Amino acid sequence: MSCVLVVGGGGREHALAWALSRSRHVDRLLVAPGNPGTASCRRTRNVAVSPADIAGLVTLCRRESVDLAVIGPEDPLAAGIVDALDAAGVATFGPRAACARLEASKVHCKGFLIDNGIPTAAAEVFEDPHAALAHLASRPDVPVVKASGLAAGKGVIVPETPDEAAAAIRAMLVERRFGSAGEQILLEERLRGREVSVLAFCDGDRFAVLPAAQDHKRLRAGDEGPNTGGMGAFTPSPAVDDRLIRQIGSRVIAPTLAALERAGTPYRGLLYAGLMITGDGPKVIEFNCRFGDPETQAVLPLLRSDLFEIMVACATGTLGDVSIDWAPMASVAVVMASAGYPVAGGEPAAISGLEAAAGEGCVVFHAGTGIVDGALHATGGRVLSVTATGPDVATAAALAHRGVGAIGFEGAQHRADIGRSPAGVHR
Ligand code: AMP
Ligand code: GLY
Repeated sequence: MSCVLVVGGGGREHALAWALSRSRHVDRLLVAPGNPGTASCRRTRNVAVSPADIAGLVTLCRRESVDLAVIGPEDPLAAGIVDALDAAGVATFGPRAACARLEASKVHCKGFLIDNGIPTAAAEVFEDPHAALAHLASRPDVPVVKASGLAAGKGVIVPETPDEAAAAIRAMLVERRFGSAGEQILLEERLRGREVSVLAFCDGDRFAVLPAAQDHKRLRAGDEGPNTGGMGAFTPSPAVDDRLIRQIGSRVIAPTLAALERAGTPYRGLLYAGLMITGDGPKVIEFNCRFGDPETQAVLPLLRSDLFEIMVACATGTLGDVSIDWAPMASVAVVMASAGYPVAGGEPAAISGLEAAAGEGCVVFHAGTGIVDGALHATGGRVLSVTATGPDVATAAALAHRGVGAIGFEGAQHRADIGRSPAGVHR
């Protein structure tokens, strides 16, 4: 039997812990730092070590004889946690820092895509606000403005007018709203089409694609409001069929893995390609080097195979030896967020109705929850993901929204259109 450490404390990590706790190989599961949801998984214990404390996590793995470490969020990956755990002899699911740069630096990623002939939007890089504004004034279109570094999914602004684009440039390069993440920016051609996410388990050489999920980045129904980390997801995505998956595999995922292997930095872990399906075929919007949140909460409940076996195979280059089987069903995850999300934290608010949601058949994954005065509270950001499965998206969505309706906390925000509208179409 094995001991697994999951690093992180969001809804994605709750879903990972939930799935790993069902493995027939896992008898101990640690989550650092976890949340009240992970604490309630079978055979699972939260450990108060921050994902940023790499030395502390290495020590924890040694002390607890961890057999496999699974890294949820991007920051520790970019900081080299996998390199440190590898050096300590701990098998790890996640890419080394050299690969995680694909997510941590959009400027690096753009160069990588272009150098390797992988389709993506044209972009220019700027550090000087005057040069960026002059370039903006010279172009006929309104570009997307992107902070190069990690900004918790909020460093991309899709302006409608040149004035909005100029304001975004100033916010990043003059006001430094994204700190060092916005020291370099990209002005990128705006792509039109349908946005899809394709996630793949990778063992350095081979890959296996997960069921395609559709994320909902904007805060409000109808794709209105600011970009967020993601307000909900559903699978299967009607925008993706087997032919498109094969095309994305051969034009995007395979050349990416081949280029990284040639560079001596094979990619092991989960590769998440954010794509726009344009009139010219799929183009990469971004790579994430980890599972998506909330895509993971939607997709993992459909996994019939043993997640631990798949992750060990990725870590050891033996993905060809495992079979990966998904229930041929639909799944919908609806995020409930705190009042001020994505801008402010908000006061802790008591949560009610979780048992009723479970009674509806929903699985509720925790993120921004905490115990205050002995009771479960929403503590800011994305708070819960309410997931339901069913024979089709409409049925799963009806169930998930019934679950959301059963749950209450002061100021809760959610999108009523998750799983009910063709989200992600960019005209
Ligand atoms: P990212 O953080 O790079 O995924 O960007 C956040 C969101 O902004 C994406 O999910 C898209 O909806 C949108 N976006 C980013 N780049 C572009 C682009 N070049 N054209 C159109 N929309 C984009
Ligand atoms: N839901 C988008 C992400 O995880 O980046």
